Amino acid sequence: MSKVRPTDGHFVSARIVDLGFHEVAGLSDPTYARIKAVNDYMLKDRNLAELRKQGAWNKMRRLGDAVIIDMGYPLRNSSDVPVGYMEGVYVISPTFFSRAYKSAIFTALTVAGIVLLTTIILYPSINSLLSRVSGLSTNLLHANMDILSVLGSAVAKRDSDTDIHNYRVTIYAVRLAEELGLSENEIRSLIKGALLHDVGKIGIRDSILLKPSRLTPEELKEMNEHVRHGMDIVSGSVWLSDATQVVGNHHEKFDGSGYLEKRSNGDIPKVARIFAIADVFDALSSKRPYKDAMGYEETMRNLIGSKGSHFDPDILDVFIKIAPVLYETYANRDDDKPRDDLKQINDRYFGPGVVGDISLAR
Ligand SMILES: [Fe+2]
Repeated sequence: MSKVRPTDGHFVSARIVDLGFHEVAGLSDPTYARIKAVNDYMLKDRNLAELRKQGAWNKMRRLGDAVIIDMGYPLRNSSDVPVGYMEGVYVISPTFFSRAYKSAIFTALTVAGIVLLTTIILYPSINSLLSRVSGLSTNLLHANMDILSVLGSAVAKRDSDTDIHNYRVTIYAVRLAEELGLSENEIRSLIKGALLHDVGKIGIRDSILLKPSRLTPEELKEMNEHVRHGMDIVSGSVWLSDATQVVGNHHEKFDGSGYLEKRSNGDIPKVARIFAIADVFDALSSKRPYKDAMGYEETMRNLIGSKGSHFDPDILDVFIKIAPVLYETYANRDDDKPRDDLKQINDRYFGPGVVGDISLAR
């Protein structure tokens, strides 16, 4: 606790008054330049009724350019009955404020210096920890992408003996989403959903999934359940939960005649409306064990024939603009280009290094 020094200030007026604030005895410093202002303040400017209510008071206030402390204490007789007040005015010297200001500046600079020094000492450790956390996050993302790719490709291979459909359809969907101006978050959801769109086929019996002939209505009904199985699988993971938009809606149709929920128009998530076009475009333009690949003209005739019924007309109009390049670049291609291009897409949307994970799914 700091001591009061003589240079901090001094009493310029002190007196004893009765309960009506009439002076009984008093002293004042005639050498103080503002003694008249102090006396005027004590005799005229104070709210005496308010001070009397307070009993004891101790107030700092300005008097011209001086700062004073107006203080007073009640006096009691031997029967503890109030008989008056001892009061005075203490003037704080300008040197006190100058010293306090310098002390505050010194304290602030000291604190800033300590903070700076601590930051300099701790920065390498914090930086190293941040790098490790960042590395661990990237590794975790790699692991997630591994699982996603392996799972999607495993199902695709079981279904059609090739996983290349998964790569091409994801590229088509992403190119269309970029053309439509979807956000990076939406495109990340689209990629996860596209790679896993048929993951629910794991739950379909081989006798139905691999049946070479047309499915009966009962078998078709069971086959359609792959959407529900897929939802059950991806909704069990927080990281994959946004893939449900595509997985759960990739067989819905714009006019409400699809499955499972018979959603229509804007009730179908936009990423699912995009994916539906990419999925059918690839299915029509690809060779399968049970059919030949359609040429570009025939593929587009089929797509346009379903405009407004199966497909969102506005999204299809945008796809029609980019379809020639996509067909030319990827249709019926079974070499490394679709895989390599998908690596680049994953790298762009999930961070550097993710490219390596896709190869594990080959
Ligand atoms: Fe499907």
